[in-house]
Amino acid sequence: MTNEEFKKQILQGIPNELPLIKSYDTNINHAPKRKDILNQTEKKLAIRNALRYFDKKHHPILSKEFAQELKEYGRIYMYRFRPNYKIYARPINDYPFKSNQAAAIMLMLQNNLDDAVAQHPHELITYGGNGSVFQNWAQYLLTVKYLAEMSNEQTLVMYSGHPMGLFPSHKDAPRVVITNGMMIPNYSKPDDLEKFNAMGVTQYGQMTAGSYMYIGPQGIVHGTTITVMNAARKISHSEDDRKGKLFVTCGLGGMSGAQPKAGKIAGLITVVAEINPKATKTRHSQGWVDEVYDDLTTLIVRIKKAQTSKEAVSIAYQGNVVDLWERLVTEKMKVDLGTDQSSLHNPWSGGYYPAGYSLEQSNEMMAKNPEQFKVEVQRTLIRHVNAVNMLATNGMYFFDYGNAFLLEASRAGADIVNKDGTFIYKSYVQDILGPMCFDYGFGPFRWVCASCNPKDLTITDELALEVLQKMYETAPNEIKQQLNDNILWIKDAMQNNLVVGSQARILYADSEARIKIAEAFNNAIKSGKISSPVVLGRDHHDVSGTDSPYRETSNIYDGSSFTADMAVQNFVGDAFRGATWISLHNGGGVGWGEVINGGFGMVLDGSEDSDRRLKSMLFWDVNNGIARRSWARNEEALFAIKREMERTPDLKITLPNSVDETIIDNIF
Ligand SMILES: NC(=O)c1ccc[n+]([C@@H]2O[C@H](COP(=O)([O-])OP(=O)(O)OC[C@H]3O[C@@H](n4cnc5c(N)ncnc54)[C@H](O)[C@@H]3O)[C@@H](O)[C@H]2O)c1
Repeated sequence: MTNEEFKKQILQGIPNELPLIKSYDTNINHAPKRKDILNQTEKKLAIRNALRYFDKKHHPILSKEFAQELKEYGRIYMYRFRPNYKIYARPINDYPFKSNQAAAIMLMLQNNLDDAVAQHPHELITYGGNGSVFQNWAQYLLTVKYLAEMSNEQTLVMYSGHPMGLFPSHKDAPRVVITNGMMIPNYSKPDDLEKFNAMGVTQYGQMTAGSYMYIGPQGIVHGTTITVMNAARKISHSEDDRKGKLFVTCGLGGMSGAQPKAGKIAGLITVVAEINPKATKTRHSQGWVDEVYDDLTTLIVRIKKAQTSKEAVSIAYQGNVVDLWERLVTEKMKVDLGTDQSSLHNPWSGGYYPAGYSLEQSNEMMAKNPEQFKVEVQRTLIRHVNAVNMLATNGMYFFDYGNAFLLEASRAGADIVNKDGTFIYKSYVQDILGPMCFDYGFGPFRWVCASCNPKDLTITDELALEVLQKMYETAPNEIKQQLNDNILWIKDAMQNNLVVGSQARILYADSEARIKIAEAFNNAIKSGKISSPVVLGRDHHDVSGTDSPYRETSNIYDGSSFTADMAVQNFVGDAFRGATWISLHNGGGVGWGEVINGGFGMVLDGSEDSDRRLKSMLFWDVNNGIARRSWARNEEALFAIKREMERTPDLKITLPNSVDETIIDNIF
């Protein structure tokens, strides 16, 4: 298809005549059939809702087709309306547009639906099993049409994938305002999502799926590398001492598959158990795992050899993780670092496989005898924890990787809870990312080159490196390590070949670094050194964007981790400080009703407007969270916010007074 034809198709929106029915493409990874949760009246409502997008003349045909989709897939995706052109991030000038900001947004949302990037592209799901960009193809077609037609004096309003419409606004307003899954609080239970999503009135936006900010596996590799490196620092401070240390974990899936690559970058011996041979094969063929063993005796010999020669190597154990842990105990092996990244947030439907059964046997039991499956999972979890506890007694540092391992193990009755009800191990945010990164303002800043030209990405890498190196020279000791980790990351980023989809880069930076890097990009666009606009953004898994008591805000101990003021304030504050688009979501990572999170996108085009906006918005976007973390009495955040107040006279933050604990102890 020529570019002109592509532009015509975008501007057409929902076609007047019905496109031909598309066959169900079995080469594509499809979303599983969803729960049949609607009653007859609600099913009729779902179909009535779906038909709203179409001219009356099509209703007789489409009503039957949508009823069939609802029956077969549990949702109405409107497969027939999936466009014929290939969806991927195209150079910005290939889009039809009146506003270059809106064109950049089209590029970003098409990246989220690229076959090479998205998990279930035909169901408009980018990642995490249910992280949706839109609920159906009509919403997609209408949205891109609006984006192509809108000016910089209009704002597009998105309700959970549905484009409510273009409203007059002004050039400093966001071009798009997105909300995903926002519910009346009492209607935020998992089955409410199933029901209202099936009716077509809400969707699960995950974090960067419904906000058009996903950048493929690079984000996960970087986050996992930072986590594993900092976890390794908890057991040894010098790089030399880290050599030959053994890191044991589970999972080579979507996110967990980044662990061996991250472990290798951190210089460790990494052993990852994976029950599913397909997952192991994928990571091995990608080069993220060096070697694969399915025999524990051979594996133990190999690990011992690596420990003796202090070799950084990544190894997969093809089998159940509990067999691995128990063997490490009987062999009295020294394990230094341990975690688990099976999908325990989803324990009864294949997130965690019981020991003693093959993958096929487990899958059969899950379908035919779910009660028995549950018993076997819980039995395995108890064995899992017993083995981990033995190794922890011998000095292993174990942490929960945000996958509900501790929660499910405790529900299974495993020996994992202290007398006061807390868990005996900490989570990765409580112990690692929270105090070492988020409280200092360091989080997952990212950018995308709208030219889609790798040469521009190389220039941005160089500019970012220059900024970080300069900052390092005068940085206080507290943040030197974070800067250095990211200096090393960005130096190797290009040769590590991390780009899948749009020309994107991620690194962890604080507000000073984010602003200085963005300024350098804007100047380079102005001078022509960078050929096209650059889109700034971040993962929602950040300093300020997310209120999530069991993950991002799990190291907030003043009781406020169950409030969501920070995420909402962030969204609103970003909007009036110059974000090009903003989003606020219910659910993301840990589940529907468990988290409120938000993000932004900002288009830099080399203008003075961009310069003003980036300074104002990026400053707020990070410091809002540091202020909240400091009010919760987090030492690192107190350090960071006091330093920021010294640098910024207009910033006045309410600081906490600490109380002598003996006064509290003597009250009752
Ligand atoms: N990496 C991150 O940045 C991050 C951050 C927070 C939370 N998490 C959590 O990590 C978990 C994993 O995410 P994912 O996307 O990789 O999920 P996934 O389902 O794609 O991968 C998990 C893998 O574990 C394997 N597995 C399950 N039970 C096993 C067992 N007993 N023995 C051996 N292998 C077993 C599965 O076969 C699967 O391949 C999720 O709960 C996610 O929410 C990840």
